Amino acid sequence: MTTAQIADIASINPATGDVIGTVRLQTLDDYEQAVARAEAVQSSWRRLPAPKRGEVVRRIANAMRDRIEPLGELVTLETGKIRAEGIGEIQECIDIGDFAVGLSRQLYGITTHSERPDHRMYEQWHPLGTIGVITAFNFPAAVWAWNAMLAAVCGNAVLWKPSLLAPLTAVAMIDVVYDVLRAQDVFKPANGADPCDLFPLVIGTDETIGHALTADRRLPLVSATGSCAMGRTVGGTVAGRLGRSLLELGGNNAVIVMPDADLDLALRAILFGAVGTAGQRCTSTRRVLCHRDVIDTLTARLVEAYGSVRIGDPLDPATLMGPLINEAAVENMRTTLGEIANEGLDVLCGGLDGIDRRVDEPGFFVDPTLVRVPAGADPRIAWQETFAPILYLYEFADLDEAIERHNAVAQGLSSAIFTGSMHAAERFLSVDGSDCGIANVNLGTSGAEIGGAFGGEKDTGGGRESGSDAWRAYMRRQTCTINWGTDLPLAQGIEFES
Ligand code: UN1
Repeated sequence: MTTAQIADIASINPATGDVIGTVRLQTLDDYEQAVARAEAVQSSWRRLPAPKRGEVVRRIANAMRDRIEPLGELVTLETGKIRAEGIGEIQECIDIGDFAVGLSRQLYGITTHSERPDHRMYEQWHPLGTIGVITAFNFPAAVWAWNAMLAAVCGNAVLWKPSLLAPLTAVAMIDVVYDVLRAQDVFKPANGADPCDLFPLVIGTDETIGHALTADRRLPLVSATGSCAMGRTVGGTVAGRLGRSLLELGGNNAVIVMPDADLDLALRAILFGAVGTAGQRCTSTRRVLCHRDVIDTLTARLVEAYGSVRIGDPLDPATLMGPLINEAAVENMRTTLGEIANEGLDVLCGGLDGIDRRVDEPGFFVDPTLVRVPAGADPRIAWQETFAPILYLYEFADLDEAIERHNAVAQGLSSAIFTGSMHAAERFLSVDGSDCGIANVNLGTSGAEIGGAFGGEKDTGGGRESGSDAWRAYMRRQTCTINWGTDLPLAQGIEFES
């Protein structure tokens, strides 16, 4: 490696456009060393009893607890999400850490009954090895934590490639982890390896590090969060080497509002889902499918609410919506708004004016956009996920029509219905209802808790992270059969005697 290959990238505060700091881009050599060191330390880590691994993770979660405010504020500084959400993101890291600690005593396998006499069968779960984790800018800490905390108690090392739009958060998170690993005495690798090597951070481009990581046969699992396009590339490369991938990709999440819905609740949930995080969550609400009897009322209330959203400095506690992540995100929103204008859709708030009137301000601020789709229409532009606060309002006549339209899009991440009717709620949750990985009743599409498995179907990629039994993705299953008798009966009653 020559010095000419060393490059810096700047982390930009999207609220001001100012550089917060610069980070050295890592090279292929750095990557190679990181994987080799992770492999070496993992061979000791996997022999440490799982509850002891949980003890290390407990200390990591506690260290995050102690630093929740500065870490949360750094998330805000680097991504532009409001302070409450920045802190909420670190809370999510702590929560999954706590979950992982409990899990470290619950990596259960089943026993089953053998068809052969004097035989015992059971399943056990072993660590996979070193896991690759690719994260996006919008959850620069939590998505890593979902993967890393679980993968660690499962006995893996975790190599992290963060988004180049939020590298400082990654550095800060890993620094907390390294402080804990240096101070602890629970895990002393037998071969003198450095315990910090369990959590390598490799900050680099998609072309060098991303490609090396996805193509690397030493990484049995690659967990990747980002756009559907990114998922196709990552999933294709990993599948090409017969590795496993865990993909958490885009969403085109909708809220169905029935005529008997509590409109106060629906309004608040839609506002948080569509405007919160400036529409930059994979779970952000992108479409509202509203019954024709209540659409005029809901629309009027949404227009009023959109008009009173406080947009500005994300560190100011009064702010509800910060900036988009960068200029490219603003331009991407502008392109979609141009298509909305070409389609002749009714823009009720925001729109191109909501970008243009802010071009002279520092930072990447936009106004949130509300678009009313004419009854019966389903414009193609609304089928794509634009990572920005654009919300399409549709009207429908009955629940069958709403569900059909709901499921028509390519993605299948999160979904919600607002209704007082048990019939409608259960129909939405039934086999013929929502086709998403997440389906909610009387709460919005975004802001999931860590206890449930998180992810979605179709173009969302099919992966599940975080709670429930998502931990199984980080382990290999072994079916064990033990013959404790003195004969050798064959399965299916096959006779094979000479
Ligand atoms: C993402 O946007 O990639 O449910 C994850 C939510 C958050 C996670 C979003 N807990 O909105």
